[in-house]
Amino acid sequence: VGLLGYGRVGQAVAAGILQSRGRLEAAGVSLTCIGALVRQPARLRGGPPMPCTTEPAQVISRADLLVEVLGGIEPACALAGAALDAGTPVVTANKTLVAHHGAELRALAAARGTTFACDAAVLAGVPFLGSLARRPLVSASRRILGIVNGTSHVVAGALDEGASFDEALRLAIDAGYAEADSEADVSGRDAAEKLTVLLHLAGQHGAAPGRLTAGRLDALDQEDFRDARRAGGVIKPVVLASLEPGASGAWVGPALVVFDHPFARLGGVDNVLTLTDSHGHVVTFGGPGAGPAATAQTIIDDVVEAAVRGRGAPRRPIGSVGANGTPRVPLDEPPPGPWFLRVDDGGRALTVRRFAEHLAAAGVGPVHLTARRRRLVARTAPAPWRAVCRALESCGAGRSALVLPIIEHQSHASKETHR
Ligand SMILES: NC(=O)c1ccc[n+]([C@@H]2O[C@H](COP(=O)([O-])OP(=O)(O)OC[C@H]3O[C@@H](n4cnc5c(N)ncnc54)[C@H](OP(=O)(O)O)[C@@H]3O)[C@@H](O)[C@H]2O)c1
Repeated sequence: VGLLGYGRVGQAVAAGILQSRGRLEAAGVSLTCIGALVRQPARLRGGPPMPCTTEPAQVISRADLLVEVLGGIEPACALAGAALDAGTPVVTANKTLVAHHGAELRALAAARGTTFACDAAVLAGVPFLGSLARRPLVSASRRILGIVNGTSHVVAGALDEGASFDEALRLAIDAGYAEADSEADVSGRDAAEKLTVLLHLAGQHGAAPGRLTAGRLDALDQEDFRDARRAGGVIKPVVLASLEPGASGAWVGPALVVFDHPFARLGGVDNVLTLTDSHGHVVTFGGPGAGPAATAQTIIDDVVEAAVRGRGAPRRPIGSVGANGTPRVPLDEPPPGPWFLRVDDGGRALTVRRFAEHLAAAGVGPVHLTARRRRLVARTAPAPWRAVCRALESCGAGRSALVLPIIEHQSHASKETHR
């Protein structure tokens, strides 16, 4: 096994392969890490001793199989592409690479009769992507809902308990969950990449992280969390996509999850994903979304599968099912649904009554409307995103307003629809 990257995950893969030697041999594979590509070979590392190099060819040319854990797009994409082109299987945990170039790398692997596996790219410690890729019915989901970024989940949890944003982020960094540069977590970019991988799996091959609507976690203040609780839910960072023709859309970012929804009880770095089919059946995956050891286990299982299958028998690439017969739907706006709105008065003397009139004129029915300390908070009936935006523009709130989807319990939501 050649390692592209010997950081946290790369070292955990090397350690896992050593620790699991007996179990792996029982499964019919004997794995040895032959070396790692890094930026700084002289850096002190805690993992098993490993020949480290800055020269990719020294790793790629000698390996039967590559594990790509560099992160980012380049040089990961060029190196994975060169290896696949030469028929060498590649296993990756890099969601950025998979979200942006997964389709072409999969196609290359298929053309060369080899494997491109990426189960650790989404819900890293929960190996499910590969099995879904071989299951056309489950992967043809109509609704995707998940909490797929552990860092933002920890930050949102601390905000909910009354911490300021800086305190919440510091807590996540000190606990080892967040990086000093947490922009990918706070902006939703990390979660958007993971949702893109899931949308490709569901046959939406045009989906791209930059085209999904994302809300920032740092747009919220402590009062929003209190208002959310008064409105009957807790704010969680979610990914949401509806693939229903005529009611499609996607959202990445904070949402109000009603108290009786199973997600409302989750905390810490928990990750969870639910896929709902056209009959309303829900399949749920949950578990560790990150952490080097959990990620390494998923990677090593992918390595074993690729090794057992050999170069001539690639497993079915992700995205190859669900592709045919799945109507392409627009995903550049959030799907219709109920909304949690916060509008700061901002000196406009906006009363509850005036706000309700603006909502009604745009066709948005408020379910619950309150005013407190110069801010108005509404929980609305299901409405299209554009109607909500129209109402906010017309009352002058526009971009300063907070708009969060409300995630209702599935059975309640469907009762609402039948009504
Ligand atoms: N950490 C997690 O829990 C987790 C979970 C799921 C998925 N992932 C994914 O796994 C990947 C790796 O994450 P990580 O946490 O292990 O990152 P990391 O600790 O930053 O390690 C990255 C490694 O890649 C090397 N590297 C980066 N750019 C390079 C370049 N241009 N040329 C040569 N070497 C380069 C670094 O070399 P130096 O050591 O010399 O700097 C380092 O060894 C990412 O795609 C991440 O999204 C991570």
